Amino acid sequence: MTEPHSWHRTTDNDGIVWLMLDKPNSSANALSSQVLRELDFILAELATATPRGLVIGSAKRSGFIAGADIKEFTTLGSVAEARNLVVAGQQIFDRLESLPCPTVAMISGFALGGGLELALACKHRVALDDGKLKLGLPEVMLGIHPGFGGTVRAVRLLGALSALDLMLTGRNLRADQAHKIGLVDALAKTDEELRELAGGYIRRPRAAHRPAWWQRLVSNPLIRPLIKPRLQAEVSKKASREHYPAPYAIIDLWARHGARGREAYAAEADSIAALFLTPTARNLVRVFLLQDALKAQGDSSIATPKRVHVIGAGVMGADIAAYCAQRGLTVTLTDRDATIVQQAILRHRARFEKRIKDQEQLQQVCARLQADIDGAGVEQADLVIEAIVEKLEAKVQLFSSLEPRLKPGAVLATNTSSIPLEAIAAGLANPSRLIGLHFFNPVALMPLIEVVHTAGTAREARMTGVNFARRIDKLPLPCLSSPGFLVNRVLVPYMFEAMHAAAEGIALETIDEAARRYGMPVGPVELSDMVGLDVCLHVGEIVSNALSRPLPDLTPLRELIAAGKLGKKTGQGLYRWEGERRVRSTEPRTAPPEDLADRLMLLLANECVACQREGLVESADFIDAGMIFGSGYAPFRGGPLQAARERGIDDCVARLQQLSQRYGERFKPDAGWTQLRSAP
Ligand code: NAI
Repeated sequence: MTEPHSWHRTTDNDGIVWLMLDKPNSSANALSSQVLRELDFILAELATATPRGLVIGSAKRSGFIAGADIKEFTTLGSVAEARNLVVAGQQIFDRLESLPCPTVAMISGFALGGGLELALACKHRVALDDGKLKLGLPEVMLGIHPGFGGTVRAVRLLGALSALDLMLTGRNLRADQAHKIGLVDALAKTDEELRELAGGYIRRPRAAHRPAWWQRLVSNPLIRPLIKPRLQAEVSKKASREHYPAPYAIIDLWARHGARGREAYAAEADSIAALFLTPTARNLVRVFLLQDALKAQGDSSIATPKRVHVIGAGVMGADIAAYCAQRGLTVTLTDRDATIVQQAILRHRARFEKRIKDQEQLQQVCARLQADIDGAGVEQADLVIEAIVEKLEAKVQLFSSLEPRLKPGAVLATNTSSIPLEAIAAGLANPSRLIGLHFFNPVALMPLIEVVHTAGTAREARMTGVNFARRIDKLPLPCLSSPGFLVNRVLVPYMFEAMHAAAEGIALETIDEAARRYGMPVGPVELSDMVGLDVCLHVGEIVSNALSRPLPDLTPLRELIAAGKLGKKTGQGLYRWEGERRVRSTEPRTAPPEDLADRLMLLLANECVACQREGLVESADFIDAGMIFGSGYAPFRGGPLQAARERGIDDCVARLQQLSQRYGERFKPDAGWTQLRSAP
């Protein structure tokens, strides 16, 4: 074996070994097989020449260890191969745990997944509390669970309830939360203090943390069978076993073994090896890598905007401005109506006050969000975002009045959801500086921004949009200007198909049930209410007309809109709403007709195929990513095109042809399916 090069080892005057991970060619540490092999080699040496103690930390500024190397998961070809990988990791962590000297994980930034599992195999954990610390076991988001002994050690260290909560939700804990449950033994405020603390745990050995007696009691063999169904019921509210088996496997492992004995580790390895090969895990890993691919975009040679001017303080503009201010940008917010700006600022300040506990940070965020009644901010802005009414003339007029006032190099952006960029750019002296920045509603929750361009958009402007999206932690999806761009265009036929089905007399609840059974988080009817029926109708008409598609009978929708029943925002739409909650119908539920899910989901896939054929976004993968992050499309299916591939392209086309005969031309398979069939 060659000399280890991911780990830097030093021994101090007290005889303590400091092992710092610095994975080469990577901004964050991940536990690749190479990193683990090197660790194994070092631990074998330490086992024969035991030091006074061992501290494991990170030499990277970004943080401790982000987890396993997820790319390696995609190469696993069989359950046996997956099991070998996991068992090898378990053995290395066992070796760490059984070193006959005190061991301390010295954590800064993050310790996630396999990284936290490594820390769990140490006797103590100390961490840097600088407001950035994140600790978690997020494996469940990838359709798996901890596999290097984490399902066992987490329960032993924290007790079943805390450990299961961590594993089942996959959520990250802040420093104070991690300290409170005993996941870290002590917190430090500075790097020096952290090193001092870590060394102290070795120089003055202390007992390892133990969970409270009642947490230990929960894992009693007589209590486990009572708790198990409750945990399962809780999980089933969020995810079905069929679509998301991993959380159920976590509960099963604990219920069977209670994190006791060697069998618990063997069962963990068997369970995760089987999960690795499920379509769910494969697709969730795919989605994770797609997200990374979206994040990796940008061009560091092009300046990222620092000052943003937002015009229109309505639903979208106010939220965009507040979101940017929270992410560190200076924002001026204007509207033709001054009271709307003032109300928006007050509303968001109140929100900040609720959410931001640190007073200094709160003041900074509030200071960055500035009311700009006369619109003077435009002259200092690096990026101007327009979010006024969805009317072409209004937008053209606004942009032509703004253009002469812009700084050189400033980029203009529109948040339009349906107007082609070319039409808006036509009024500009320099149309190449206009991009679309299509945010989704609600801004704070939706991760995607479609960064829209035309053939005439300057690359600098486009990349400024991409850099900006990354700067505020959103996922940029570069997209050619075309009716509805990607996400809305694909959602229109899907939501309209729900209207067709409703017109045939199928109950609205039944229509939504069909989509939910497929795995959509909400059905198309509920989604229409959430978006707003007025917005749906408007975008639906624009997209359908631009693509020369016939519309369904929209009379019921128009009647609701005329009566002011616009959906969730007015408390009544296709459904009745009480605040955030939809009022469930009391009618007995009926099973959806056999072809309903296909009608909805294949029509959606067919539109994705058309977008792919037209080259709207860079690749089929980015179409899948756009639909998952822009519309919440069932992530465990890996995206509409991935789902079509898994089902079989021929089968999809044959079914569309059948539906086309039964229901009409709108199901005609797009010409692009052939291209998709021949794609790798
Ligand atoms: P809104 O009606 O809530 O807000 C528009 C605001 O613009 C109003 O406060 C109005 O006073 C102001 N305004 C109108 N003309 C103006 C002008 N010439 N100068 C300055 N201010 C002016 O509209 P909303 O929903 O925020 O939509 C804004 C834009 O965002 C539209 O282009 C819409 O298509 C797009 N969009 C909307 C989404 C939604 O879910 N509401 C989602 C994504 C995009």
